[in-house]
Amino acid sequence: MFLITGATGVVGRETVRLLVERGARVTAVTRNPHSHFPPGTELVHPTHMAALDGVEGILFSPRATGPLAVGLLDRVRERGASRVVALSAITVQYPAGLARFRRQFQAAEDLATGSGLDWTVLRCADFAANTLAWAGQIRATGTVRGAYPQARTATVDERDIAAVAALALTDPRHAGQTYALTGERALSQPEKVAALGAALGRALSFAETTPEEIRRDMLAAGLPDEIPDRLLGSLADHAREAGPATDTVRRLLGRPAGTYAAWAADHRAAFATGGHR
Ligand SMILES: NC(=O)c1ccc[n+]([C@@H]2O[C@H](COP(=O)([O-])OP(=O)(O)OC[C@H]3O[C@@H](n4cnc5c(N)ncnc54)[C@H](OP(=O)(O)O)[C@@H]3O)[C@@H](O)[C@H]2O)c1
Repeated sequence: MFLITGATGVVGRETVRLLVERGARVTAVTRNPHSHFPPGTELVHPTHMAALDGVEGILFSPRATGPLAVGLLDRVRERGASRVVALSAITVQYPAGLARFRRQFQAAEDLATGSGLDWTVLRCADFAANTLAWAGQIRATGTVRGAYPQARTATVDERDIAAVAALALTDPRHAGQTYALTGERALSQPEKVAALGAALGRALSFAETTPEEIRRDMLAAGLPDEIPDRLLGSLADHAREAGPATDTVRRLLGRPAGTYAAWAADHRAAFATGGHR
């Protein structure tokens, strides 16, 4: 059985789907007992996940496990698990943004690589799904306001991360590997907005504003400091130097990484007038 932490996140949910599709037994970790997963998926609350028997491999999602992460991998190993796939960030390898965020991911990697389990570390670029944060503005005004328009990153399609996670959980040849998962081409923010416009068949624009204004708006919307700290720190660095673009997805999956344009086309409903809020 595979234990998927962060199962209701964009990576976890798709990893569950792929594993179930392949006939694997899957237990999804969530605080919400009413979460919907493919038939056959079992659910467990995070506070009970370490006590499960029969775990073969675990998807280790640092945000979801939080303080419960300490000791978790030892417990599942003692109960017979052999494999961990840890979600981390590309900034561990290519520093950008505030150091404290990289250190959190490094600490999560250290738990995995020091666990005694066969480990695979997935260092992920910014997820395409992060741009869902633009959906409200696009629906309302057709304009995305943001700082550092020239910041370029090779955003990764989270479905590619899940495909690699499912592969690494089920194929022992990925043990001891650290993979940098990115898209193949770095795009600026206005280029991403243009791709969304192409997907919607509607002209969209990007309006530059100051980092201070973005921070003020985010805090006024009730977001914690951590969100603008994380966003603005990495945008400032990527305005100076584009985020890395790798061919890791292509090497591992035998096909190119999903493009941002394809992601935009598949998710256009979320940005369309009348789309989900
Ligand atoms: N977004 C990015 O650009 C990026 C880049 C690199 C790495 N990552 C990492 O990739 C991992 C997966 O990201 P994701 O977006 O798929 O998932 P996510 O939204 O970060 O979290 C997945 C699930 O974990 C639970 N969770 C979230 N915050 C929690 C908290 N504070 N305490 C307890 N449970 C919490 C929630 O599930 P329930 O409510 O169902 O319990 C949530 O749906 C994360 O660890 C993230 O840090 C993200």
